[in-house]
Amino acid sequence: MSVEMQVDKQAAEKEFRPLIVSFCCNWCSYAGADLAGSSRLTYPAEIKIIRVPCSCRINPLFILRAFQRGADGVIVNGCHPGDCHYSTGNYFTRRRMTVLFSLLDFLGIERARTRVEWVSAAEGARFASVMNEFVEQIRKLGENKKLGDIRCIELEEN
Ligand code: FES
Repeated sequence: MSVEMQVDKQAAEKEFRPLIVSFCCNWCSYAGADLAGSSRLTYPAEIKIIRVPCSCRINPLFILRAFQRGADGVIVNGCHPGDCHYSTGNYFTRRRMTVLFSLLDFLGIERARTRVEWVSAAEGARFASVMNEFVEQIRKLGENKKLGDIRCIELEEN
């Protein structure tokens, strides 16, 4: 590989800005994100937060849809086990996400593109650090090409 090509490749890698969807339950994780903001802790702008009443509101199909629409990573945040505002919502989330991870394996999508994290309303610093870490992880994985191919096929058919 020539030096110019290496420089171009490095520039392209540097420019990659992943699109990451972060589902946050209203009562803990969203409040944690809010605390991170009010504490002036920074996390990358690549994170797009979607607030949901409880993590159990997240149908695994939402995650597949996000990937289909161009997300490079999806993270689900909820209250710590035992702290869910609706008492058992996050237990359902945990089980559903386990099934989703198996489905992702079947589809050939890297499992590391999704993650489930428990963040309480008092854990602004944890929220920021989890988001920073997740963005870095997705940057290393690169663009979500698998579903990018599917999107191209869809566009050609329509
Ligand atoms: S309200 Fe936060 S996980 Fe249910």
